[in-house]
This record gives sequence, structure tokens and C-alpha cells, in this order.
Amino acid sequence: MTGDAAPVGTVTAAVIPPVLELSNVQAGYRRFRALFDVSFTVSKGSVTAMLGPNGAGKSTVARVVAGLVPASSGSVVFAGQEITGLSVARRARSGLAFAPEGRPVFSTLSVEDNLLLTFRRQLSRREAAVALARTYDRFPHLKERRRQLAGTLSGGEQRLLALARVLAVPPELLMVDELSLGLAPKAVDEVFAALREINQAGTTLLVVEQQIRRALDLASHVIVLRKGRVIYDLPTSAMTEDLASELLPVSP
Ligand SMILES: Nc1ncnc2c1ncn2[C@@H]1O[C@H](COP(=O)(O)OP(=O)(O)OP(=O)(O)O)[C@@H](O)[C@H]1O
Ligand SMILES: [Mg+2]
Repeated sequence: MTGDAAPVGTVTAAVIPPVLELSNVQAGYRRFRALFDVSFTVSKGSVTAMLGPNGAGKSTVARVVAGLVPASSGSVVFAGQEITGLSVARRARSGLAFAPEGRPVFSTLSVEDNLLLTFRRQLSRREAAVALARTYDRFPHLKERRRQLAGTLSGGEQRLLALARVLAVPPELLMVDELSLGLAPKAVDEVFAALREINQAGTTLLVVEQQIRRALDLASHVIVLRKGRVIYDLPTSAMTEDLASELLPVSP
């Protein structure tokens, strides 16, 4: 039993740490600095949309959190643990999944072999079979294409496959970068439905998106970057259409 001095809400807020906390993160590429003092938190169970114009630093934030780009200063805390110095693999094993931009699939293998190869690295044969069945339930489109070589899928289908591959084990935090880019409308629906379901199953999401309206539908919180800095950090309810179009005039 906790003491009865503080209201329950206060105690909860103080005791449950955020899933992700960036403090004064600076990062870049060689001499080019892409992020300046980036600080924000992602609370457990939430969906945070990271928005901003091209070149704002959205992908760089995701890469720093995943461990693909080092932070030159500042800290990244994931699930209560300082991960700034950990390898990509250690971060992934601790429940941090990242579906990056592009189409990171094995193009000469079938859809099913892409999935099984990835799942079997982390799971027993039996668990991998269960994960495969779950993947096909979630992405019927991939099931239809399971015998097809990944390299012959459309760009959108390859992005779905790339997402499915990082979900062998339900992660604590899933970061997705421009997942809907180049997808046909039906595939975009499938992606967003899957993200919603993944979140409802308990995974916290950090979603980098160009489809702002879709992202705002899904998100409870919004972070807007511009020129490597956080310029807005607010609940979705405070993000009006006017504000969205003012901040992001070129986006749909
Ligand atoms: N591999 C790289 N090498 C050098 N500079 C890079 C590299 N990747 C990104 N940058 C630069 O860092 C800055 C931030 O890029 P980043 O990719 O994080 O932006 P972004 O917000 O994801 O943009 P977009 O919406 O175009 O994907 C940009 O100025 C970009 O040119
Ligand atoms: Mg990007």
C-alpha cells in the first residue's frame, strides 16, 4: 500500500516512467549537425506522431533512438534504461523495433522466407510458425503473396513486409518511418489498421508520417520538428487543422 497523502493520479504519473525519453540530443552526419537539443518523452501505450517538413530531422531522431546514428551529446532512455551507448542489436532485443524508410527486404527470397528467416533469428521454430500465422492474420495481403519473390512485390507491399519483419515479438516501442510512402490507398488502410491494432495490443508507437491527417487520426500526441529542433510538442487534441496546415503547408 502506498501512503494516502497524494491523489492516485499524482502517484501514477510519478511512478510510471515514459517508455522513451530524449534529453538534449544532438546528432548529425560528419560535420553536419541535424539535431539540436532535441528533448521529448513518449508515454507508455501512446501513439506519438512525429511531423515536420523534409529535412527537419525526423528520420535522424528515429535513427538515434534505434542506435543507427550516434548521439554526439544528450541521452536516450528507453524503458527506464539509459541506452545511449548500446548497440542496435541490444536495443532491438530490449523491445525497441524500427521499420526504417525504404524497403529493407531480401529481394531474392519469397515473402514467407523473408518472414521466417527473420523470425527464426529470434524465436524457436514453433514460435516462428505462430508468429507467421499472426502476421498473415494481420496482413492478409502478404498471405496472398507469400510465395512471391520479395523483389517482385510493389514498393508498398515491400514496405508492409518490412514492417511485418520487425514484429516477430510484440515490441515495447515501434518506430515507423514514412511507412505509407508510395503505398496504394488500400495498402495505406492496411498499414494504419495494423498500427492501430499493434498499439491496442500494448505497443507504444512513434510514427513518422507524411500523411498528416492519417497520423493525427491515430496519434494521441504530436511532435513537430523544424530544422533539427522540436518546435511543437502537444496533445493531438490541441493540433487544429489550421495549425497543421500552417506548420506543414506542402503536406497532404
Ligand atoms: N546519411 C546522411 N548524410 C548526410 N546528411 C544527412 C544524412 N541523412 C540525413 N541528412 C541530413 O540531415 C538533415 C535531417 O535529415 P532527416 O532525414 O532526419 O530529415 P527528415 O525530417 O526525415 O526528412 P524527410 O521528410 O525528407 O524524410 C537533412 O538536412 C538531411 O539532408
Ligand atoms: Mg525522413
